Order: sequence, then structure tokens, then C-alpha cells
Amino acid sequence: MSIIRTLSEHTINQIAAGEVIENPASVVKELGENAIDAKAKNIQIEITGGGFAKIVVSDDGVGMSKDDAILSIERYATSKIRTADDLFSLKTMGFRGEALASIAAISKMTITTSTGDIGVCVEIEGGRILSVKPAPRRRGTTIEVRSLFYNVPARKKFQKGESQSAGEILKVINLLALAYPHINFNDSPSSLEERIRKILGEEFFSSMVKVDFEMARGYIGAPSFSRPNRTGQYIFINQRAVVCPPISFAVKDGYGTYIDEMRHPAFVLHFSLPEDLIDANVHPQKKEVRLAEEAKIKEAIRTAINTGLQRKTNISIQLPTFTPTSYPTSFSFKEEPPDFIEEKLPIDNTHFVGIYYRFLIIQKEKLMFVDLHLAQKRIFFEQMKQKEKPSTQRLLFPVSLPFIIDDERLKELMEMGFELHQATPHSFIVDAIPNFLDENCIGDFIQKPDLRMSCFVYKKGFMLQEGVSLYKELMKCKEPSICPEGKPIMTGLNTDEIEKLFKN
Ligand SMILES: Nc1ncnc2c1ncn2[C@@H]1O[C@H](COP(=O)(O)OP(=O)(O)OP(=O)(O)O)[C@@H](O)[C@H]1O
Ligand SMILES: [Mg+2]
Repeated sequence: MSIIRTLSEHTINQIAAGEVIENPASVVKELGENAIDAKAKNIQIEITGGGFAKIVVSDDGVGMSKDDAILSIERYATSKIRTADDLFSLKTMGFRGEALASIAAISKMTITTSTGDIGVCVEIEGGRILSVKPAPRRRGTTIEVRSLFYNVPARKKFQKGESQSAGEILKVINLLALAYPHINFNDSPSSLEERIRKILGEEFFSSMVKVDFEMARGYIGAPSFSRPNRTGQYIFINQRAVVCPPISFAVKDGYGTYIDEMRHPAFVLHFSLPEDLIDANVHPQKKEVRLAEEAKIKEAIRTAINTGLQRKTNISIQLPTFTPTSYPTSFSFKEEPPDFIEEKLPIDNTHFVGIYYRFLIIQKEKLMFVDLHLAQKRIFFEQMKQKEKPSTQRLLFPVSLPFIIDDERLKELMEMGFELHQATPHSFIVDAIPNFLDENCIGDFIQKPDLRMSCFVYKKGFMLQEGVSLYKELMKCKEPSICPEGKPIMTGLNTDEIEKLFKN
């Protein structure tokens, strides 16, 4: 007897749902994009219990007829393309006809919609239609998704907590709001600039530089606003929020020496590219795109960013934390954030001279060198002992790891500040990492079988601000002067010792 079986339609839908619907935030993304495709001007998004209990997305778009509402939850049912050729002249966010089918397969869903006539309400549970009834509604659509993952407990197990999930949803709404400044999302401000101010903050807003060239327009952060990771980078290609490493690299190249090698610029850039240069069909959630004529596009970006910055060269003089060399060496104490001075830590008479490789140089009664790698070990060690979760950084480019992690190790990693979830039976996606870890070492770190200090992976370079923050954290440790392996964390020279160096 044969052991190979064809899967049922229901099972196929559940598996497909795993690709498209990773978490509640992907539901919000898909429903939000559908509302945008339906030409909505106002989109309201509400969630309960981090989106696991309920997500409601209402729009004032074109709505659906009764027949379309029923068809909409069928797999491969779409009004947006007819043939694969249409993929290269896309005008919509959606095109696969999978999103509603996927969400419906793993939740309890109510679709209430109207094209302007008498509306319809369709109740669905686990992908099966329970009822179709007339319902009053103004033109537009409301989709309510309840009990997400209720029938796929294995997927539920790998979900994050409610508050983290709510945070991811907020990120999705922010992305949609930056991508479509003319659409109102939950009473958002009405201009792109004001939305940038709200989402990226006053500091970015007040020093951002406008760029406008043939393929893109938007705002780039002043070099002082750089970050240790790419979380401040918003790339939209034809209004689709995407991750596109070639563009990120080209923008960074455009900053040239304005930005430290280990740092990343923040920016919001809207690209308008001919659809035939973009392949949006390379990622299950359409988060990534591939570009044709990449080299040409990259060169144009590099030049435009650089010109924008050159035009504002006075920034480099005005901004206190900016220096065009790789290792800033001339900060003085008064330039440190004021809260730092106010804290009652034993740093009162500390003058921060600069960074030399991985050493923070400070002047107290002696000239001291602090080994920041060893400082990180000490801080990490004490945080682990106190079961404190080390501070984390969210990755804009979640990293996929092609291996299995067992439950125990997963728990350990989460305690260390990692946020990860299973993507397929054989792979994991890392969304956030503890601060001490360099983005490029994630795979290595996770694959190490134990957590001994010898496995510690270091951050490769430091800015002075980072050095100062680490020093501040170190001073809160019980044993700030020696690392867990017994090596001294700092050493110093007094004036006599320095003078001796010259009298050989
Ligand atoms: N809010 C809405 N207003 C009007 N029509 C909608 C709405 N949401 C979905 N639809 C209709 O339902 C169809 C199926 O939606 P679904 O999201 O599953 O697929 P899609 O958007 O065509 O493609 P993708 O799977 O890539 O998102 C859409 O093509 C559209 O015709
Ligand atoms: Mg869609």
C-alpha cells in the first residue's frame, strides 16, 4: 500500500497560512494592505490581547459584493492580477490571493462589507463558512479576526507575548502610515513630515536632510543620528515597505566618512521605480524585493545621498557627536547627556577622553583604559546571575537560521534577550538580539553548544557614547574591576608612570 497521501485542502491551507501569517502583525499587514488596495481613505485598526484575541480592520474602500466576499477567502482568489505577466506591472499591494484564505484557515473571521448597496456579513471558522447574512453597512469593509491560531496550537506555542506582539503591530501600522501619507490610519497626522516626527522622534526630525532625486525622495538622518543597527531605516519602493539590503548599503555608502563604519544611518526613502525593475514575488510576506539594474540604482542613490549631505556640510560642525574619523577621540565631559552627570555613580570626576579600538580612555586621578569587551562580560555575567534580561536591539532585517533549536536552548536564548520564532520545521527567525552581540555573529553565537564565557561574541567597534553607557552600566556592577574570568577590566597610568615612559 502506498504511504504517500495527497494533503486535504484544509491542511494545505493551514500549511500555507504558516508562510504568509507568521504572527498577529502579519494579519494586520495583510488586512491593512487589502484596505489600501480597496482605495480606502480612512483605515481603523483595533486589537485586543496583542492581536491574538481580536484584530479588527475597517475601511471606507470600494467594498465587496456578496459573491466576492464569499470568494475572497478561497485560495488563489484575487481581483488584482489575471496572469503572471501582470506581476510586472503591479499597481496593488496584494496579488497572490492567499492572505484572506490563510488568515481564515487559522482563525474565526467575520467579514462585513458593502459596495454601497445592502451589505453582507460572512462568518467563517477555520476556513469554513458558517453563515452568510445581509447586513447594513456603509460602503467599505470590516474584517474581524478572532482567536488567531486557535486550531494550530503548535504555531501558537512559538508566538511572542501579547505586549511584544502589540509592539510588532504598531511597527506595521507605522510602516503603512509612512508608506501612505495620504491615508488616515487611526487618526494619524496628515503629512509625511509629521508622521516622521511622531515615529522617528524629535531628534531625527529636527536634523533630518531632505533628498529628492529622479528615483527617490524622502529624508535622511543627520550623521549624528546613526544607530548601531538598521532599525531606523524605512525603505518604500512604489509605496511598498521593503527590506532591500542593496539600497541600505548604497545609502550608507553615500554617507562615506560622515558616519562610523560600525553605525547605520536612519532614513525614510520613497522610491518610484518602474515596476518591471522590481520583483516583489520573492518573499512569502513580500517584505523583500529583488531589483533589476541594481548597480545603476545603487550608484544613483550613493550620489544623491552624498550630494544631499554635502549641501548641508554645516551639519558636521553643528553636531556635537559627529566626527568624520572612524574613532572619535575628542569628546569632552560636558557633551555627555546631562542625566549621566546627575546620577549618583562613582563617575563624578571622570573625564571621557575617547575610544581607542575597544578601549575607553578616561581621565580620573590617573589616565585609565577600560577594556570594553571585558566590561561587557562583567555586565552580562551579573545580569544573568540576577536573571535580569539584558537590553535588546530589534533587527530590521530579521535573520533566518537554517537549523533546529531545542526547547531548552530556546528558553535560554530568550532569557538572554533573544527574540526568535520557528519559521519552518527546520529553521528559526531571529527578530531581536541582546545588545552585547554583533549583528554579524548571531548564527555563530546561537550554534555554540554552551553558554560559557568563552563563547561570548563581541561587538566589533564602539562609539564613544556606547563606551560611556557601558562604563555607566559597569559602575552599577558588584565587581566592576575584574571580569568573570579574573582579568582586570581597567588599568591606568599616573603622571609619574607616564613620565617614566619617556625616560628610558
Ligand atoms: N478590504 C477589502 N476591500 C475590498 N476588497 C477586498 C478587501 N479585502 C480583500 N478584498 C478582496 O478579496 C480578494 C482576496 O484578498 P487577499 O488578500 O486574500 O488576496 P490579494 O490581496 O488579492 O492577494 P495577496 O494574497 O497577495 O494579499 C482581493 O483580491 C480583493 O478583491
Ligand atoms: Mg491581500
